[in-house]
Amino acid sequence: MKAVQIVELSGPRDALKLVDVAEPEPSHPSTPGQGVLVEVHAAGVSFPEVLQTRGQYQVKPEVPFTPGSEVGGIVKSAPEDAHVKAGDRVAAFCMLGGWAEVAVAPAFFAFALPDELDFAHGAGLVLNYHTAYFALQMRGRLTEGETVLVHGAAGGVGTAALQVARGLGARTIAVVSSDEKERVAREAGAEEVVRSDGPWKDQAKEISGGGVDVVVDPVGGERFTDSLRSLREGGRVIVVGFTGGAIPEVRVNRLLLGNTEVIGAGWGAYVLRRPELNVEIGQAIDRLIAGGFVRPIVGARFPLEQAADALELIDGRGATGKVVLDVAAPAL
Ligand SMILES: NC(=O)c1ccc[n+]([C@@H]2O[C@H](COP(=O)([O-])OP(=O)(O)OC[C@H]3O[C@@H](n4cnc5c(N)ncnc54)[C@H](OP(=O)(O)O)[C@@H]3O)[C@@H](O)[C@H]2O)c1
Repeated sequence: MKAVQIVELSGPRDALKLVDVAEPEPSHPSTPGQGVLVEVHAAGVSFPEVLQTRGQYQVKPEVPFTPGSEVGGIVKSAPEDAHVKAGDRVAAFCMLGGWAEVAVAPAFFAFALPDELDFAHGAGLVLNYHTAYFALQMRGRLTEGETVLVHGAAGGVGTAALQVARGLGARTIAVVSSDEKERVAREAGAEEVVRSDGPWKDQAKEISGGGVDVVVDPVGGERFTDSLRSLREGGRVIVVGFTGGAIPEVRVNRLLLGNTEVIGAGWGAYVLRRPELNVEIGQAIDRLIAGGFVRPIVGARFPLEQAADALELIDGRGATGKVVLDVAAPAL
């Protein structure tokens, strides 16, 4: 089968090679038992894969390896304990190996794809939306009527956080860096949009009537202290990632003075050890899809062979929503 592999850590462009490799076995290396084999139609591209092409991500397989953490496709085979069966349309989180014609995912990471969503949506569903729900609901304890400020709001995690926050009954403020990203954030349900290079902290306090309840932060870096300052008493900053590069440090006296919290939300490693939690989050996301709140925004699509273009788009801060590789033509 065709696959795109990372063959050296000189990324993004020079690290990739289109190769012919054997189809994977249905057993998944990360979990005991059989996995779900998926005929891949669309594969997601995300920030961690940019880092993987440079050997800078926490998951560092030996080269050559096939990256790609999530796919939309059709089940070729599934074990008894899976919630999907051969022939089903699925969104699956495979961790690695998704940039290929066939991928394998643990049974608990394969979710039936609702009729409203196509394969490209499926390739953008698990990582970002499960993370957003885990961060907002399970870690951030978001309640209806609270105000959520989302950094990197036009990105993959950002658009998902906006949609999930709206679905959970929150008010939303997006922080973005350009007009085009403002358009995307509004499409994802942002009620208010402020600019990252402007006085966003003061604007957020004014919009929210004194301070926001929750900040979702996939960016980190310089803006972290102002995120803390933008909170109302009892507010929470949820740490999701560091696209801005620098990992911020917290002077904890700020937390004491404001009665505020900084909360880590690391979805992948946590749910990998709790298969039943994935079912619960999958059902919650299905309800948000059925309610019309969740629909992944596919910002750019490339054929599998052009995976380097997809990575460069993300690396250059030009991506909006989910970047997707088309691996096969959609089935009828
Ligand atoms: N904790 C978890 O479980 C979890 C799960 C999934 C992803 N993540 C992490 O979350 C982060 C965001 O992922 P994503 O898929 O949403 O990425 P993305 O689609 O590329 O979006 C990231 C956003 O970050 C902002 N940004 C600010 N400075 C940047 C810079 N120097 N370079 C690139 N972007 C910059 C950009 O928005 P503006 O231009 O508007 O500022 C961009 O839209 C990544 O670090 C990823 O590893 C964590």
